[in-house]
Amino acid sequence: MATGWPPHLFLVGCGNMAGQMLHRWLACGLDPDRVTILRPSGRPVADGVRVVTAYPDALPQGTTVMLGMKPHQIADVAEQLAPLCTTDTVMLSILAGTTLADLRARFPSARDVVRAMPNLPVGIGQGVVALYTDEQASSAGRTEAGALMAPLGLCEWIADEALFNRVTALSGCGPAFLFRFIDALARAGEAIGIPPEQAARMAMATVQGAATMAAAQENPATLADQVASPGGMTREGLNVLDADDRLLTLLTDTLEAARDRGEAMARGH
Ligand SMILES: NC(=O)c1ccc[n+]([C@@H]2O[C@H](COP(=O)([O-])OP(=O)(O)OC[C@H]3O[C@@H](n4cnc5c(N)ncnc54)[C@H](OP(=O)(O)O)[C@@H]3O)[C@@H](O)[C@H]2O)c1
Repeated sequence: MATGWPPHLFLVGCGNMAGQMLHRWLACGLDPDRVTILRPSGRPVADGVRVVTAYPDALPQGTTVMLGMKPHQIADVAEQLAPLCTTDTVMLSILAGTTLADLRARFPSARDVVRAMPNLPVGIGQGVVALYTDEQASSAGRTEAGALMAPLGLCEWIADEALFNRVTALSGCGPAFLFRFIDALARAGEAIGIPPEQAARMAMATVQGAATMAAAQENPATLADQVASPGGMTREGLNVLDADDRLLTLLTDTLEAARDRGEAMARGH
């Protein structure tokens, strides 16, 4: 067994997001025998992973539970799951907008409660996972949560829960914004006369190559200026993006809208 795997992992819900996380954990060596998934449909998830449609009578000692259903299902889930939690249960939650205090109140017996906000590329080990807990959590709980999340990509502990929704706007929602950018780059290429399929392929490869290159450098802003010679084509294009901070304003508006929606959802709207 690789270090970092809990003795047992109980996933409540395994749809798009939890499914990506599990996919990566299994690819990194998590023994499917150590995983139980509760999902109402009972649909199989992966070879060797047990799927149940009803809660067991007890959880194996040292189980890490991960809440991966929709946030509005928390009351229903807590009613059945809370009695199974013990003082050695680590509870992870990927539920957007459900606070640590709310989780603690619903699962008072759990040893440690940690919020995690993954994004979709966790499935290929290139995701971002924001993590939050407070001073009530044990250092063992932090270590165990961090070790489980490590194979998923960049893991960042957030110091203040108020920031959790904001980082969700950036890294949780970010892949969709990038998907939109890639598509727009391709369509802009098409608009200036490049055959559509060729523009799509070239936009995709350009973003992939540029992201890899930027990740290896210190500062993407400096990199942009380095590759733009005065009077050249790139500089002329950057001037359009930079005019009145056009791109920065657009992205700030985008993150603010996502952040505000998250805050409204947390208030139950
Ligand atoms: N999608 C993202 O990019 C993303 C990113 C970060 C965090 N999240 C968080 O991840 C959570 C799940 O989102 P998702 O997009 O993965 O949703 P999803 O694909 O709809 O998956 C929801 C899962 O919950 C299960 N479920 C439904 N009712 C349940 C119940 N009463 N008790 C237990 N499980 C139940 C479903 O079971 P069946 O499959 O049997 O129907 C399904 O496996 C949300 O809380 C969201 O905030 C999502």
